[in-house]
Amino acid sequence: MGLIPNTHRNLKDSYTVSQYHTLNGRGLTDFSQEEMIREKPPYQNFLVTGGAGFIGSNFVRYMLEKYTTCRIVVYDCLSYSGNLSTLRELSATYGERYTFIQGDICDEVQVGNALMQHEIDCIVNFAAETHVDRSLMDPGVFARTNVMGTCALLEQTRRYEIKRFHQISTDEVYGQILQGSFKETDNLRPRNPYSATKAGADSLCLAYFNSFDLPITISRGSNNIGPYQYPEKVVPLFVTNLLDELPIPVYGDGTYERDYLYVHDHCEAIDYILHLGQMGEVYNIGSGHETKNITLASTLCDLLCKPTSLIRLVDDRPGQDRRYSLDSSKLESLGWQPKHTLIDGLKASVTWYVENEWWWRPIKEGNFKVYFERQYKQRMAHAAPSPVA
Ligand code: NAD
Ligand code: TYD
Repeated sequence: MGLIPNTHRNLKDSYTVSQYHTLNGRGLTDFSQEEMIREKPPYQNFLVTGGAGFIGSNFVRYMLEKYTTCRIVVYDCLSYSGNLSTLRELSATYGERYTFIQGDICDEVQVGNALMQHEIDCIVNFAAETHVDRSLMDPGVFARTNVMGTCALLEQTRRYEIKRFHQISTDEVYGQILQGSFKETDNLRPRNPYSATKAGADSLCLAYFNSFDLPITISRGSNNIGPYQYPEKVVPLFVTNLLDELPIPVYGDGTYERDYLYVHDHCEAIDYILHLGQMGEVYNIGSGHETKNITLASTLCDLLCKPTSLIRLVDDRPGQDRRYSLDSSKLESLGWQPKHTLIDGLKASVTWYVENEWWWRPIKEGNFKVYFERQYKQRMAHAAPSPVA
């Protein structure tokens, strides 16, 4: 089933919403839920922190394209994973509806100025250090951005009486689950520095809701795939290596499982929560497509017509979580459903990397090389061959 480029779905497929709901006790009299989600932006002026990264940039495009009146200010420090080329056409396409500010979320003064100057009514916080392997190398950077940075944003939300603060969190805060799926009410048992700092941020958000009545919501998404994902994460790393006929490193015995969510489905879920979510509530966002890493690796070989002999089993990530799984029924009760099957999502992702070498090639040939050597050189030197025939 080799991939033919340009076969991925039109992402503007329509959807239906069968139920009507109330928003914080208020009746939705002027719009049906479907009309409201389709036509009217939930807020007018958004500050999207981390908007030059993978999911943030997809969300910015989703919102600007879908809602013709909202304005988006991307606030991003351009760390190693933030890239202005990711946002390159937005000024020309959307004019004054799109603004970029280079800034650190820990810098409260600069955040405050941005909120005031752009009359922000909603903050969506994607900004974070996001890679588990890097968090094992340097946990302090994760604590600073993910915990202190979120705290700085919450303080400024309080100070400027912003109408809404939405925190982008992760399924990893729950820790691993060997059977069944996590519900929002389950305890948080993070097991690596990345997930521990994200859990800290979630706790701060809930504390600001409880202590100061701050209008916050939190969503916990599963592993995203799609365009503009930094090639340290498993899918873009494997795809770009395979395109260059390079081996792909599967950790451990390859039986670890992740739930893969196509990024556009994630963006749509956030849109639902911004419209219909209750303040102080947490919403899981999972696709239900749980897959073993070895299966993922061989499917990617298949889609790119590359031999599975390129798969290598390498030393495991220390303390790796065996399995993640989310129960997303709370969000589904608002009308959201993922639209992409796993294979649709993988095909759309692979196609994007095939067609957009201009984006990933300079990254892989730049600073990424240093990281790759540090992370993989030793492991690859004594890797086991592919277990897949
Ligand atoms: P990413 O690494 O691609 O992007 C992170 C962005 O944050 C980058 O643009 C970076 O420059 C910016 N940033 C980092 N530190 C900053 C700081 N101090 N100030 C301002 N900007 C800063 O990450 P992503 O995969 O797009 O993840 C976005 C969010 O979604 C994160 O909060 C992450 O925890 C969460 N999440 C990711 C996944 C996933 O599979 N990628 C799944 C669930 C949740
Ligand atoms: P990753 O994309 O890093 O996301 P996360 O650790 O946040 O789930 O990894 C997804 C899975 O793929 C995880 O089980 C680790 C595994 N993996 C590999 O097997 N090899 C790799 O080179 C990478 C980066 C990840």
